[in-house]
Amino acid sequence: MASPKLRDTYPLYLANEAVFSNTDLEVTDKYTGEVATRVALADAKTIDAGIAAADAAVEPMARLAAYERQDVLAHCVSRFKERYDELAYALCIEAGKPIRDARGEVTRLIDTFRIAAEESVRMTGEVQPLDISPRARGYQGMWKRVPIGACSFISPFNFPLNLAAHKIAPAIAVGCPFVMKPASRTPLGALIMGEILAETNLPKGAFSILPASRDGADLFTTDERLKLLSFTGSPDVGWKLKSQAGKKKVVLELGGNAAVIVDADADLDDAIERVVFGAFYQSGQSCIGVQRIIVHADIYETFRDRLVAKTKTLIAGDPHNEDTFVGPMIDVKEATRLDGWIEEARGKGGKLLCGGQRDGAMLEATLLEGVPRDTKLYREEAFGPVAIISKFSDFEEALEEVNDSKFGLQAGVFTRDLYKMMRAWDVLDVGGVVIGDVPSYRVDSMPYGGVKDSGLGREGVRFAMEDMTEIRNLVIRRRDV
Ligand code: SIN
Repeated sequence: MASPKLRDTYPLYLANEAVFSNTDLEVTDKYTGEVATRVALADAKTIDAGIAAADAAVEPMARLAAYERQDVLAHCVSRFKERYDELAYALCIEAGKPIRDARGEVTRLIDTFRIAAEESVRMTGEVQPLDISPRARGYQGMWKRVPIGACSFISPFNFPLNLAAHKIAPAIAVGCPFVMKPASRTPLGALIMGEILAETNLPKGAFSILPASRDGADLFTTDERLKLLSFTGSPDVGWKLKSQAGKKKVVLELGGNAAVIVDADADLDDAIERVVFGAFYQSGQSCIGVQRIIVHADIYETFRDRLVAKTKTLIAGDPHNEDTFVGPMIDVKEATRLDGWIEEARGKGGKLLCGGQRDGAMLEATLLEGVPRDTKLYREEAFGPVAIISKFSDFEEALEEVNDSKFGLQAGVFTRDLYKMMRAWDVLDVGGVVIGDVPSYRVDSMPYGGVKDSGLGREGVRFAMEDMTEIRNLVIRRRDV
């Protein structure tokens, strides 16, 4: 088979149709920095037209039968399978994602749509007896879920396919039209999804995928025709958008500085392998990438030394290379920012264990220990290939350290002790606790989202479907009972 290629230009999708515009957005190859392709850029007028079309599609989308919504999702699954290599290649270029991670993301994209296809025919309600007192004798209730209406989606650069899929697939599963603004640095994945959706017979206006810069982009947040805003991205931006979103429901999937506890009874080989993966896969640019590694004192030195040795073996460089583990960060600015955080941590007494060198957007896989808690590297979201190690003696102390964060997305705990596992599940103030693995683990059907500054609401197809629907109640009065 010929190796995949990018086209010279990609259209945006307005009301289900491909549109080329006068203004283009350059998409660079994140490894070479060269322009790889161009995509059509939506202006304020186009975004307004997309929202108007979505608003007009609310009724026809809501009328689709479950099997029709399922057919659309099933079509996407089979087309993603057919275009698997092309999707992975585009991801490798536009995000600089190592090709193995890129393939992994395409596989997850397929999973997400497959789950949505299954869930689309399972949107059930409940029958509720209301005769709880003499006043309600003869009354019976039932409720069902109805689509919330037109949705607004803003997706991030780090998983351009699968995090867009976590919005698009549930919307189709429940019958909501949507407008999406893909990340400006990585719009290709969502546009290829648009091309595949355009092959279906979704009602006109069901979807618009609109790469946008500043001109009109605020409409995705402020326009009152949109009934839900689902944003994935940085905490600062997410909370700001919420304050501008008016009456619409808001779902925020934001960042974190995820911690993992490695207790004294952990299987060291396994824990080291998983922590290296969690900290450095896709160059640490995951909201649940391991940032804080909290290790029991009894195994601390052994664990640290072996972790450092393993980290030094990671191959960094060209993401197209099958052996590359660490590719570039999304841009030089982000890599420079994180480089500065490493310097700050070192200046305050943190010890560099490995890595720390930067060349453009390439930052080495970096580990530090003894990093004080008042540093950015400890407090903020690193979102790059850097992690810090600390030591604990008492499990409760380790739990407190995990919770000593303004974020709360996921946490990992390597322990074989059932009581510690249950205790962690009880007290860790996060959206999800992963036992025997890193916080970076996610299956696309599970509830996923954060507490504290990490967000609002849950994704994981079923849970997003709940957010994209309203409960509509029915009360029936019978006079014969
Ligand atoms: C994220 O970065 O929030 C998504 C992580 C994942 O889906 O694995």
